[in-house]
Amino acid sequence: MSGFEKELAGKRALVTGGTRGIGAAIVSRLLEAGADVLTTARAATGAAPEGASFVRADVRTKAGAEALAAAVQDVLGGVDVVVHNAGGARPYEGSAAIPDEEWQDALDLNLLASVRLDALLTPGMRERGSGAIVHISSAAVLTPEASSFLHYVAAKAALETYSRGLAAELAPHGVRVNTVSPGRVATPGGERTRTQWAEVAARTGVGGDAAGATPPLGRDGHPDDIAHAVLFLVSERASWLTGRNLIVDGGEFPMG
Ligand SMILES: NC(=O)c1ccc[n+]([C@@H]2O[C@H](COP(=O)([O-])OP(=O)(O)OC[C@H]3O[C@@H](n4cnc5c(N)ncnc54)[C@H](OP(=O)(O)O)[C@@H]3O)[C@@H](O)[C@H]2O)c1
Repeated sequence: MSGFEKELAGKRALVTGGTRGIGAAIVSRLLEAGADVLTTARAATGAAPEGASFVRADVRTKAGAEALAAAVQDVLGGVDVVVHNAGGARPYEGSAAIPDEEWQDALDLNLLASVRLDALLTPGMRERGSGAIVHISSAAVLTPEASSFLHYVAAKAALETYSRGLAAELAPHGVRVNTVSPGRVATPGGERTRTQWAEVAARTGVGGDAAGATPPLGRDGHPDDIAHAVLFLVSERASWLTGRNLIVDGGEFPMG
């Protein structure tokens, strides 16, 4: 027995992008810990883990953020835990090849989705004097020079800076804000990106070795490796922890 069973009982949690990969694992771990969980995805047929509430929304848009904030009130009656997980982008053969609309899309999904949703949800948290927010970034931010998706790593880097600033702003109000940066994790989105990355690298040489070396801990990540870190950060066990970025990568990336 860990002594932490049902440690989120009575907590209301929103997780974006919870129908597969890392997001689905986060939803499952939060449910196990006793939270009421609402999640979202674009696909109408999105299969959220059993026990979670689901609302269809596209977090890239202001309308999507507003619909989600309304659903938070309707379904959960407010929110104590927010995990901004939806993210991603496709690689290109160099920065000049990234179309303007792909830059905008990467910024909308990986930065502005969090900014807009936080703006709608943090006033309630401030009022109650408690809350925990986690932004999912990427360890790829540590090595932008090896990237064929500079729009993605630049957006995630901005997310990390935004997250730190928000943490400072909200700490006096009892709201904690942290970032988790995954390394290479086996998910549908991760595998799709690495296939596209390898294709760009093979064709143009941009992006380097998509397969990469096995992380020092001997394997790629599992979605639960990230979900456990998130669960810790939103729990009372992390009540003295804010404004930090937890890199969960099997030891792969250089210490930043
Ligand atoms: N996997 C990795 O190796 C890795 C490494 C570093 C960082 N990350 C980060 O970890 C997070 C999760 O990655 P993942 O690999 O688990 O992704 P994934 O397998 O592609 O799953 C993404 C989830 O987000 C949803 N989603 C995508 N766009 C959305 C939108 N605009 N609005 C609402 N929901 C949306 C997807 O459902 P729909 O498609 O139906 O919308 C799905 O539920 C991302 O922020 C990613 O950047 C992943």
